[in-house]
Amino acid sequence: MSAAKRDYHEDDIRAGLVGSVMGNDPVKANELQKIAVEESRLGIPLIIGFDVIHGLRGVFPIAIAEAGSFDDDLMERTARMAAEESRAYGISWNFAPMLDVARDARWGRVSEGPGEDPYLASRFARAKIRGLQGRTDSAETYVAACVKHFVAYSTCEGGRDYNTTSMSVSQLYNVYLPPFKAAVEEGAATAMASFMASFNDLNGVPCTVNAWTLRDILKGAYGMEGFVVSDANGIRECVSHGIAANERDAGVQAAKAGLDMDMGTHIFRDHLKKAIEDGLLPVEVVDEAVRRILTVKTWLGLFERPYTPEETIRAYAEALPESHAALCREAAEKSIVLLKNEGNILPIKRDAKVSLVGSLAGNAGEVVGAWSMGWEKKDCVSILDGLRNAGATVRYYPCGGPEGELNEDEIQSACNDGDVIVAVVGELISMSGEASSKADITLPGKQRELLERLTASGKPVVTVLMNGRPLALGWEAERLPVLLEAWHLGIQMGNAVASVIFGDVNPSGKLTSSFPFVTGQEPTYYNHPNTGRPAGKSKFTSKYLDAPAKALYPFGYGLSYTTFAYENLRVTDTGDSLDIAVTVRNTGSREGTEVAQFYIRDVTASLVRPVKELKGYRRVALSPGEAREVRLTLSKRNLGFYDNRGEYVLEDGLFRVYAGGDSENVLEQELDVRF
Ligand code: GLC
Repeated sequence: MSAAKRDYHEDDIRAGLVGSVMGNDPVKANELQKIAVEESRLGIPLIIGFDVIHGLRGVFPIAIAEAGSFDDDLMERTARMAAEESRAYGISWNFAPMLDVARDARWGRVSEGPGEDPYLASRFARAKIRGLQGRTDSAETYVAACVKHFVAYSTCEGGRDYNTTSMSVSQLYNVYLPPFKAAVEEGAATAMASFMASFNDLNGVPCTVNAWTLRDILKGAYGMEGFVVSDANGIRECVSHGIAANERDAGVQAAKAGLDMDMGTHIFRDHLKKAIEDGLLPVEVVDEAVRRILTVKTWLGLFERPYTPEETIRAYAEALPESHAALCREAAEKSIVLLKNEGNILPIKRDAKVSLVGSLAGNAGEVVGAWSMGWEKKDCVSILDGLRNAGATVRYYPCGGPEGELNEDEIQSACNDGDVIVAVVGELISMSGEASSKADITLPGKQRELLERLTASGKPVVTVLMNGRPLALGWEAERLPVLLEAWHLGIQMGNAVASVIFGDVNPSGKLTSSFPFVTGQEPTYYNHPNTGRPAGKSKFTSKYLDAPAKALYPFGYGLSYTTFAYENLRVTDTGDSLDIAVTVRNTGSREGTEVAQFYIRDVTASLVRPVKELKGYRRVALSPGEAREVRLTLSKRNLGFYDNRGEYVLEDGLFRVYAGGDSENVLEQELDVRF
């Protein structure tokens, strides 16, 4: 596969040497397709791929945010929109979903995935596969997913991108493989899928040449019927890894290990034929790779319909469909997380005079987040635009941002003018995503100073966070009255933030990744083992001398403009399942949607198990005073875990069941479970 976005190798396509390209230009795609279909010897159409991670033109929230909606139907609908837009731009293959469970926010790509929990990541996986691949009734409404990065890339040591990874077999099977297994199961139900091997070496073997992960697990145990592509230049990098003596050796190892397509280099093209002739590589290995790739191209309908209709190209060139903008707005609104609202400063009155502060607030291009490459600025709504669209009386003072100096005069004016200050702080898009690891995940630049100055004004300060990763917010949480986590919400960010700030929308999002007080706590995650000395009062327990042991804001956490209470947790063992029920009550004065969460703990097992594991969730909308019973039927089969042989085991014993509005504030029931 040629990775060049600029030079499409027309001659190589004509010569039948390139079977797939990257790009999002539908006119160019038709031109290249015409060469492949009408001028090459075999006329095999190209498969055209692109990084459509969270939307193409209709960019919706980055995954770490969207998964926080805990709304599977929404996550499926946004993927379906991405598939439809992709086909309109000549793309039949999305390098998505990214399913890397991530626990270390120093890693910039934590922004691209669905957070720290394997269960939520698995439901996210299923929703995305259904959305991308499920609607095959028309050639223009589905694409092949490319599930990535296989596998455990997110555990790069120190959160440093591309760094080495190593873990036990049970850790790999219990935490990092589940979303990929879910994707294969969902893909098998709807259609083909492809996978992307990850850059990292896992327990000493780079995933590009790892027969254990690619052949034994993915294609063998999981039965994945699509093909596996390397990540960009991944094959060549096996020489740097020190696992291959040269490029030919890397290519042969990769093919033998189960890699079917070479992204970004010409190694497969330049070396495999000779390797077969020299007896280094059985031709059957290449036949199998070709079969897998052609099967996906056939399933995509590329042989019958290789071109994007002109009228489809024209329609999108004119404008983004209204329905797509509306869906991006819905996703944005549901992904916002209210972290703190002291004194109920939010929502603010529509007629309040607002001093909007921070260079991020007026920069429409910064709303889309990492890995957005098909958007158009005219579709993007900045927070300033959003407040104006909502009819706010707003004056804008950039004052400063993630980089550069503060503007003292603007700060002074902002503090003098407004009744309320809305400060937008966070990260530039370039500060998260690939190759964006950070050793310090506090607010970059002089934004903390800016907040200090604004707070000193005595005016109410609403702090809106616009970031791609969990930030170390210990200082902010102590001093600021309001913290609204708005992530990078996509093209409709400004309207969504305005809706929440003025109370048209009651925030319902929850955190998919824990936020630390300080960077040094990373990796921080809720589903950790207890250890023999869990953090406690005694010095001699698992904690820090200079920082809290627990997260500042835990997984599953998020406030509302109303309040919810959990009552009457009941767990009934029905033989093959646990019937779990809890009553959720809206104890506040306005309607709201709560994400009721269900966790378990296997208290004693043959391997230490996490103190909590998410096993179910449900969004429930409640009017003021309304109470509703939320039920979960949990198959006992889901109470097991993988041992260090990769075997799934169910062990009798004591379990705890939890229910609540986040991973810490929960009701608890204990019961003895027999399988
Ligand atoms: C990048 C990323 C991968 C992406 C690919 C193609 O290096 O690791 O996620 O899909 O190259 O752009």
